[in-house]
Order: sequence, then C-alpha cells, then structure tokens
Amino acid sequence: MKNVIAMDGPAASGKTTIGRMLAERLGYLFLDTGFMYRAVTLAALQRGVDVVDETAVTHLSTTIEIGARPPAAEEQDGRFYTALLDNQDITWAIRAPEVDANVSQVASYPGVRAEMVRQQRTFAAKGHCVMVGRDIGTVVLPNAPLKLYITASAEERARRRWHDRHQQGHAASYEAILADVVRRDKIDSSREHSPLRPADDAIIIDTTGRLPQEILEEILNMR
Ligand code: DC
Repeated sequence: MKNVIAMDGPAASGKTTIGRMLAERLGYLFLDTGFMYRAVTLAALQRGVDVVDETAVTHLSTTIEIGARPPAAEEQDGRFYTALLDNQDITWAIRAPEVDANVSQVASYPGVRAEMVRQQRTFAAKGHCVMVGRDIGTVVLPNAPLKLYITASAEERARRRWHDRHQQGHAASYEAILADVVRRDKIDSSREHSPLRPADDAIIIDTTGRLPQEILEEILNMR
C-alpha cells in the first residue's frame, strides 16, 4: 500500500486539522471517515430508525449512499467538503449535538463498520491519500507505510470542541462538552469491534499545547 497515511486518535485531538493540512501539502486526497458514521447516524435519526436497533441500523447502512465532494461555488460557508446522504447536503446536519450523542452507538455495530471499511478501502486503493479515523491503522489499512496516532488531553479536546460549537452557533457548556468527550472516548476505546487504540507500529503525537503547523512539520520530517 503506497502513498497512504493512516491517522487515528480520539475526538478533537487535532487529527482532522493536521490530516487536512498534510493532505494539502502533499497533494493527497483526504478522507475523514468519522463523517461516514455520522451520516449513518443521521439517516437513522431522520428516518425514525431506533439507534439501539442494531439489525435495523446495520441494514440501513447498506441501503444508503454516502458521499463527499468539494464544495460548490454557492456552498462556500466555511465547509471543507460537502457531505452527501442520498445526494442531500448533510454537511452541517452531521455536526449537530444529536448526532454527537448517538454516533458512538452506531459506530459500535460490526455490520455498520464492515460496510464503512469496505467503502474506505475502495477509496484508499487509488493511493495518495490521508485517511483519518479511529481504526485506520489497526483495521482499515493495516499495511499503511505511515501510521500516526494523534492525541491530546481531554480538557484541551473539550476546549477545542467548545470553540467549534460556538463558531457553528450552538450554545453548549464546556462542562457538558467535556463530559461528552470523556463518554465517547470510553465507548470508542472499550467497544468490542475495532476499538480506538494506536496500531503497534503507529507514531504517537500529543498535540496538547502545540500548534498544528509545528506538528505538520514534524510529520513531514518523518517521511
Ligand atoms: O471523528 P468523529 O468525531 O467525526 O467520529 C464520529 C464517531 O465515529 C466517533 O464516535 C467514533 C466513530 N468513528 C469510528 O468508530 N471509526 C472511524 N474510523 C471514525 C469514526
């Protein structure tokens, strides 16, 4: 597997920001796989499928079409890409607190994961990509030549999420966000299938108190 960079880490660790910068610098494609689990969650919420009904959610994940494309001229509202669910624009809808609250449950289902992993491998097969998620180095692309595990303290990650939320116009307290970050970390790292953990050969980078630019240079120097 050539020219593929696998990046994993907990929520708001900085992996998406750094991954995007890295992809831009190298001229690679970028895929944030979290958006796919969010899209399945949103589909369940929109269609009245109970998120605790594993069979129904798994079936749903195989019947919907999830996609992403560069934003169109009239869509320049701060987004980096336009996320699509059956051709509907879901870019902002998948960032809603209701999706945050339910996505870990949906991402814990092995059938949902199998379907997402299949689509992610198809994407990576073209090469020249940076793929970001929780299980990219461990499960999706175990042969990736460069694996990075990006982390930061829970407090710093909650501060970053609070900042993002406020920029998007959601009023959420720092305490509530910190509690959600801790709760999601716990579900993501203790789930039975593809738990969040660094691959044995991953390089671990702690971004607490560091600037993305500085980390980007560090990664570029590794190659
Ligand atoms: O990175 P994010 O916050 O958008 O991810 C949303 C959820 O999806 C998160 O709870 C973990 C899950 N996820 C996953 O299980 N595997 C991935 N490769 C990416 C995300």
